[in-house]
Amino acid sequence: MTDSPASDPNRAAAILTIDLAALAANYRLLATTAAPARCAAVVKADAYGLGIDVAAPALEAAGARDFFVAQLEEGIALRALLPEARIAILNGLAPGCEADYAVHRLLPVLNHPGEIEAWHGFARKTGERQHAFLHIDTGMNRLGLGAGELDRLAAHPDLLAGIDIDLVMSHFACADEAANPMTAAQAATFQAARGRLPKAPASIANSSGIFRGAAYALDLVRPGCALYGVNPTPEAANPMRPVVRLEARILQLRDVDSPMTVGYGATFRVARPTKIATIAMGYADGYLRSLSGRGEVWVAGTRAPLVGRVSMDLVTIDVTDVAEADAQPGALVEVIGPHRDVDAIARDAGTIGYEVLTALGQRYARRTVGAAA
Ligand SMILES: Cc1ncc(COP(=O)(O)O)c(C=O)c1O
Repeated sequence: MTDSPASDPNRAAAILTIDLAALAANYRLLATTAAPARCAAVVKADAYGLGIDVAAPALEAAGARDFFVAQLEEGIALRALLPEARIAILNGLAPGCEADYAVHRLLPVLNHPGEIEAWHGFARKTGERQHAFLHIDTGMNRLGLGAGELDRLAAHPDLLAGIDIDLVMSHFACADEAANPMTAAQAATFQAARGRLPKAPASIANSSGIFRGAAYALDLVRPGCALYGVNPTPEAANPMRPVVRLEARILQLRDVDSPMTVGYGATFRVARPTKIATIAMGYADGYLRSLSGRGEVWVAGTRAPLVGRVSMDLVTIDVTDVAEADAQPGALVEVIGPHRDVDAIARDAGTIGYEVLTALGQRYARRTVGAAA
């Protein structure tokens, strides 16, 4: 077990544990499922909140050679962690920063004609061919070349002069919905687009896409959420191992009875003699306020529902049914763990596992368990 130097779990109010063996096992499952395609790792947003400094080296040790982040700054930080990896920047070419991509050996994902023009200009200026990925929009209408822009590029291949396109990519909008016909439609649009571009390896599948048919793996898959334990097949049992565990400490206990209320807004009205425990985390730690009155935690294997509103640093739970010896100040309660996984918390909060993970707070003592390789 490795504790991050800045945080001592013995005095920490809440402890976030990242299981690197589970992370590595998830990578290997995705890689095996997608084989013979290569399997990249999407580590943007601090590896979906888990901590890129621990997650990226573990993923590399598990076999990943291709990494995606969203922003240039993330790429620069990742380059310092992984000197050998191929790193691509999904948000494209930051204006005026072409030299930074070259210095740090980062590949821009060229998303629109202006970026292609800028990268082409940089190749001409440096007198060296420059590498990039090219993004074709097949229905997200977010990033990537639209239909008209693709027509223009297909008609004028000289726009890519000086640029080596190492990967042509697109992105599924609905792959998490097993029966959604948009996935097949996007894949067909993408294949048609590829036929009009210089020959290059291709990628379209995110985590869910990997499980929607071998044909979608193409040359490279780009999983993110499934690496970190989110279920990529929500209609079926989760094939991934849980990677994140979160525990928070009980600060104080209080006996309350009708007609008392608990917390801001007095939203929870006590109906019976009730034991309330106040635990040390809140929305400032990414424990979403929408969990107010809906979430649950587990105390020594017994369910304890949230009561009242989630505060900035505190959450109140009903421990009336928990053995007295287990519900004591200083005891750790399970917030994310075997009884309540990331997807279940997301359902309670009315959101998705991605948001639960990327919201994970900076005040938690963070530690890792398990070896990656
Ligand atoms: C372009 C792109 N590729 C891959 C991913 C990874 O997706 P997922 O986390 O669903 O596997 C993302 C995530 O948002 C993305 O934006």
